[in-house]
Amino acid sequence: MTIIAPSVLSLDYSRFSEQIADLHRSKAQWLHFDVMDGHFVPNLTFGPDILKAFRKASHLFMDVHLMVDDPDYFSDVFIDAGAQMITFHTEALNDDPVRISALIDKIKARHVKVGLTIKPKTPVDILLPYITEVDMLLIMSVEPGFGGQAFMPQSLDKIAVLRKAIDQTGAHALIQVDGGINGHTATLVKDAGADVLVAGSYIFSGNIVAAVESLC
Ligand code: DX5
Ligand code: ZN
Repeated sequence: MTIIAPSVLSLDYSRFSEQIADLHRSKAQWLHFDVMDGHFVPNLTFGPDILKAFRKASHLFMDVHLMVDDPDYFSDVFIDAGAQMITFHTEALNDDPVRISALIDKIKARHVKVGLTIKPKTPVDILLPYITEVDMLLIMSVEPGFGGQAFMPQSLDKIAVLRKAIDQTGAHALIQVDGGINGHTATLVKDAGADVLVAGSYIFSGNIVAAVESLC
């Protein structure tokens, strides 16, 4: 069963309550919450108080994607604000295995699910040593920083590599894909082995319930 995680980066904030109600009527199970610090990526988004507001407004699982230079600091900030999953970029820790494992352990010690992700230019091999340590592996199918970009088909190979590695090791990690997901690309990434689909502009650009349904 594919999990759909609408990215609230693309939510129409002038219609917040209406769109949250539509999401609750839809088959969406998670909310994907893009945190950007204006340094790791050239955009600035939400702080912890906005996540607290979402936790008050929705029962959906809060999947927080940290696109920040300091995921060590901000993982605590957003866990305190109610994050149920924290996904961070290996590049933010210079792909240093000691720092990456330490942050994975720190997030798990707070009884929060942990995900690891890479930018499109980072080889998928970087993720392989961690597949039995984490709850999720996120493949970015756009350059992180903005919604509404075109899907990068080269991400399909990365998904297939992860699918094979997870199946071979019997690891429980989910594969999440984020960026340019629509009715067509959803089929491609599911066929490649993805479990969780993040979509922003496709879901919030029209009929939310129908758009979510079309991704399942
Ligand atoms: C991009 C974010 C994505 C983005 C997806 O940096 O991580 O979650 O909001 O937006 P769409 O679905 O419009 O590509
Ligand atoms: Zn994201």
